[in-house]
Amino acid sequence: MQITVETRNAIDARTAMLVLLVPKLEDAQWRPPPRTAAVDRALGGQITSVIASGDFRGRVGEALLLYPNGEIPAERVQLLGLGEERELNAESVRCLAGRAVDAAKDRRATSIAICAPRIRGLRLPEITQALAEGLVLASYEFDTYRERDKDAAPSLKRASLLIDRPTDLKAARDASRTGVVLAESQNLSRQLSNEPANALPPAELANAAKRMAREVGLKAQVMSVAELKKHKMGGILAVGGGSVNTPRLIVLDHDPRSSRGKKGAKSAAGSTRQAPTVCLVGKGITFDSGGISIKPSAAMDEMKHDMSGAATVIGALRACALLKLPIRVVGVIAAAENLPSSTAYRPGDVVTTMSGKTVEILNTDAEGRVVLADALHYANTKFKPEAMVDLATLTGACVVALGKWATGLFGNHEGLIEAVRAAGESTAERAWPMPLWAEHRKAVRSSVADIKNTTGRDGSSSTAAAFLANFVGKTPWVHLDIAGTAWGQQAIPLPQEGSHRRRRPATGGTTAGLEEETNRLTGPHAPSSLPPSQK
Ligand code: BES
Ligand code: MN
Ligand code: ZN
Repeated sequence: MQITVETRNAIDARTAMLVLLVPKLEDAQWRPPPRTAAVDRALGGQITSVIASGDFRGRVGEALLLYPNGEIPAERVQLLGLGEERELNAESVRCLAGRAVDAAKDRRATSIAICAPRIRGLRLPEITQALAEGLVLASYEFDTYRERDKDAAPSLKRASLLIDRPTDLKAARDASRTGVVLAESQNLSRQLSNEPANALPPAELANAAKRMAREVGLKAQVMSVAELKKHKMGGILAVGGGSVNTPRLIVLDHDPRSSRGKKGAKSAAGSTRQAPTVCLVGKGITFDSGGISIKPSAAMDEMKHDMSGAATVIGALRACALLKLPIRVVGVIAAAENLPSSTAYRPGDVVTTMSGKTVEILNTDAEGRVVLADALHYANTKFKPEAMVDLATLTGACVVALGKWATGLFGNHEGLIEAVRAAGESTAERAWPMPLWAEHRKAVRSSVADIKNTTGRDGSSSTAAAFLANFVGKTPWVHLDIAGTAWGQQAIPLPQEGSHRRRRPATGGTTAGLEEETNRLTGPHAPSSLPPSQK
């Protein structure tokens, strides 16, 4: 979809569907925003009549379609309720753009024009960014394997965002472009997560990452089994050992220095100081059958999404590159398929991870932490980051605790935890702090090896996090358990019912938040300017 920002008047917009967002009526008195009033006059007062009839009151979810009959160039005028102005935020604007896309699809309209609403508390660029995000997110469908669908509905091809003042044009356009980059990156995450496991084994996930890297100018490196062995990554090798689709370690490197020229070249500020480094680590289990500790068959198909953490990292790195983040961001993905076979790892096995720490395997279905052990240790020792964030569909217990409403948030550094929480709040991708205490760390000690990979059901999201804490050293680190938020019918919390994220299995949630997080790490919340960890 092509999105433009223009200062054209609504009554001149040549489009299949002109979308007007109408604020909730406080009383019978209707004072339309100027552009709505102009359309109303051109339509001989149709909007005023509709409102006088009481059929449309501007509540969220209300929609009413008018046909201008040639009085203006727009073929249709779609009124959408904007709701109470004081309740609106960027997420409501995204949702409204999503409704506009749904309305366009219903009428098979291939172009729309939306009058950017004025909303107290939101600046115009925030509004155009949110509109662009909502449009792109809502246009995503997982239709790769459905020829029928692709032929049936002509998709929305063009959208223009109409604004009032020419002086706002540049900022509004820049923001809309940022929105497009974020939402397209999120859609890439969703697409990768939705791909079935037979189409996206570890090698193909690596290819997808490399393809993206080439497109946006990132460095990419992929380790196959021989290199995994050389690095003694016993965790990834053990989990991936049961499948002919062998494991991979994928590294994506956004380095602002290298895009400006040679390593160590002077930065824009004139210093040769190295940019701070953040590592994003993703769980990339392309299919999780549970292995020898096999899962029940109900809903096992959903375990194709068990690489959603990896998909999020790939989407986030794309956004970091295209938005030219001034910090170094390195994505590290542990990709493996967890299947039972004669070469699979077993309960009772002792696995030596890259760090040298040994792990007693008590349940082969607790595989995510075993691959992340190597990925976290590699990221930490190779890139010596200022901060690390891992994303993993790690525990069913996290789904029980927080459901689809929030990602589980764990870590070893209060400042970083708060920075990540705040970033998620601002992108409507909620993450909620969960405990990671000394008691949890004690619980993962093993009598046979250094640590064990399961501790029983009680508090198992926290003990899983405590397991991971063994592999991050003293680096400020946050672990996001996205088991409940990565996919599902309405996996993302919505301030209003109905949304652009509805009916689309993989949410790609946290992709935009990650970009925001990494962005914020350069600002006042940067770990170096925060009080030291309390742990
Ligand atoms: N990928 C699953 C966690 C999961 C379950 C995510 C359901 C989303 C929905 C993970 O690998 C797993 O199987 N975890 C087990 C660990 C247990 C064996 C200690 C779990 O949480 O049940
Ligand atoms: Mn599992
Ligand atoms: Zn898993």
